[in-house]
Amino acid sequence: MPRDPRFDILFEPVPIGPVTAPNRFYQVPHCTGMGYRRPQSLAALRGVKAEGGWGTVCTEYCSIHPSSDDEPFPSASLWDDHDVSALAMTVDRVHEHGALAGVELWHGGAGSKNFYSRETPLGPSSSPAGVWDPVQTKAMDKRDIRDVKQWHREAAIRAEQAGFDIIYVYAAHWFLISQFLMPSNRRTDEYGGSVENRARLLKELIIETKEAVGDTCAVAVRFSASTGGPDHDQDTAEPREMIELLGELPDLWDINVRDYSFEMGTSRFVPEAALEDTMSWVKSVTTKPVVSVGRFTSPDTMLRLVRQGIVDLVGAARPSIADPFIPQKIDEGRDDEIRECIGCNICYTGDQTGTPIRCTQNPTMGEEWRKGWHPEHIPAKGSDSSVLIVGGGPAGLEAAVALGKRGYAVTLAEARRKLGGRVTLECELPGLRQWDRVRDWRLNQISKMENVEYYLESVVDREQVLEFAADRVVVATGATWRRDGIGRSHNQEIPGWQTPSVMTPDDVLGGAVPDGPVVVYDDDHYYIGGVMAEKLRSNGLEVTLVTPANEVSTWTNHTVEQHRIQTQILTLGIHIKTGTSLSEIRSGGVIAECIYTGRTEEIPAATVVLATSRMPQDDLYYALRDEIDIERIGDCLAPGTIATAVYSGHKYAREMDAVAPVGMPFLRER
Ligand SMILES: Cc1cc2nc3c(=O)[nH]c(=O)nc-3n(C[C@H](O)[C@H](O)[C@H](O)COP(=O)(O)O)c2cc1C
Ligand code: SF4
Repeated sequence: MPRDPRFDILFEPVPIGPVTAPNRFYQVPHCTGMGYRRPQSLAALRGVKAEGGWGTVCTEYCSIHPSSDDEPFPSASLWDDHDVSALAMTVDRVHEHGALAGVELWHGGAGSKNFYSRETPLGPSSSPAGVWDPVQTKAMDKRDIRDVKQWHREAAIRAEQAGFDIIYVYAAHWFLISQFLMPSNRRTDEYGGSVENRARLLKELIIETKEAVGDTCAVAVRFSASTGGPDHDQDTAEPREMIELLGELPDLWDINVRDYSFEMGTSRFVPEAALEDTMSWVKSVTTKPVVSVGRFTSPDTMLRLVRQGIVDLVGAARPSIADPFIPQKIDEGRDDEIRECIGCNICYTGDQTGTPIRCTQNPTMGEEWRKGWHPEHIPAKGSDSSVLIVGGGPAGLEAAVALGKRGYAVTLAEARRKLGGRVTLECELPGLRQWDRVRDWRLNQISKMENVEYYLESVVDREQVLEFAADRVVVATGATWRRDGIGRSHNQEIPGWQTPSVMTPDDVLGGAVPDGPVVVYDDDHYYIGGVMAEKLRSNGLEVTLVTPANEVSTWTNHTVEQHRIQTQILTLGIHIKTGTSLSEIRSGGVIAECIYTGRTEEIPAATVVLATSRMPQDDLYYALRDEIDIERIGDCLAPGTIATAVYSGHKYAREMDAVAPVGMPFLRER
């Protein structure tokens, strides 16, 4: 289909200083967990974005010097000539598709603890470095400031040598330049105090970067439009003064906000286009092009922001991760095929754990080089096998889509009345509505394939599978929450677990209505315990959330929402008991035990919801595994995140009839 002419404006070129972006689709800097360690993986990943139509593709934060080291998280780096050739691979792959390549030069300042390089962390003043790390910065003197400017200049020249078209002065988030900009900069020299003084380092860096590379490269500034404040009422006064001061110096303003958990908010807390209220003034104080972000997956939202003159370029990190081909799909009138980001921030957990990026919606993300996976292409089938998939949750649906695209004849049997498995159930929980996109994108794909059929309300047993006589059978029947309390903190059943008042998240998801007061016991530590407590509280029940961890939903630190979750839970009036396990369940209450002192107390509870660990539903697999060609995927194989399930389904589909790799299942970079 031809593109809808309404969207033509999104495909207009945009001059940025001495270079021109071929369209308005702009992949802002985002980490991949590849960084300097995995340059080929990085190049392939960025190349796929450019192939998918992003007119500009940027790197992750790119360290300019060993005094800015973020180990164990692998940033990119431009410390020396070796880095030039490594990053040139990325530039080449981006240029192959006619896109511009951008690099985000980075000095972490007090944000870098330098555990790898062992260089002294630097900062505007002596202050704690890292997050909870027991190190402080050296207060930068004039020589240090000269050094930083020199390193920045040298890195910019290396970036130009690598072939980059856009070079960033990175003045956002919690890193060095931003530390100078913020009111917390208490220097008493010309780099501290007034707004003009605090903006001096940024000004000098923009000017010097332009002097060094400005003839051939555009100089962009990543900058926060706010200094803090509540989500939709942020303080923009000082940033406005600063852009009024510096507005015409760079070639591009890349605008975000101070609070990362809002800028990169999960859909549980932050809607699409949420930064608009805070940053819509920027274009009124500069004539330079402006890009900003907002988890844009809707072409209509992109169009509106450009038409209303709020941005010149549509910035995206997560939407481009979930679907690297958004621009091409809009261009070809296939916008209904956009695989929309669900706003879960699993992509960021790679960043937080120092591992390669992964994505719930896009199982090929991060696998472009090491496995040769492409988000839009998949090898044709290797045989005429028919496939029966039992279970239509995220793993089963993804396997059906990928096998269907390969050309296999696929039949999917789903026990429930609706497809989607856990996604369909969990998206009814507070804040998780957009997770249904995992199901809906796959259903839309299946609706276009004649070789994939599905049957609802079809509980399939051993005899029916044998009778159906598919060549291959895949069991994707998911997992159920344990009722006995075994989990991370309990390797034995919790005494009293058979008490009738005990429920699991499956009961609540299935519509059971608990009596209050309720104790939710979270030994899972991701979202389910917190969201269960929230749901039950919103039903008007008195709820106590008990967890052996030291904070609620602790793993969600990796998705940058733990703080929001705990705030929400406290605001809703849910009682929290952290550092506490359950030593016994009785009728009418639980015995809670402090994990440090062993002291116990009784908490009254008419219902106890145990979110501890899950059991794979693999009976069908074991009933048939010695008789037919049968495999398990997703939670039925090993319970995990929705991302793990989707990946598992995709992997199964990719590997069917493929030549088995010899040795390692993927290529390694050394
Ligand atoms: C996985 C991931 C890594 C990120 N890494 C960086 C980074 O290295 N530098 C940076 O300036 N922003 C980084 N960001 C923030 C994004 O650039 C962007 O501002 C944010 O994700 C909001 O945009 P979105 O809604 O399009 O995702 C990262 C975001 C994600 C999701
Ligand atoms: S992991 Fe989640 S938030 Fe990140 S891009 Fe994929 S769907 Fe979006």
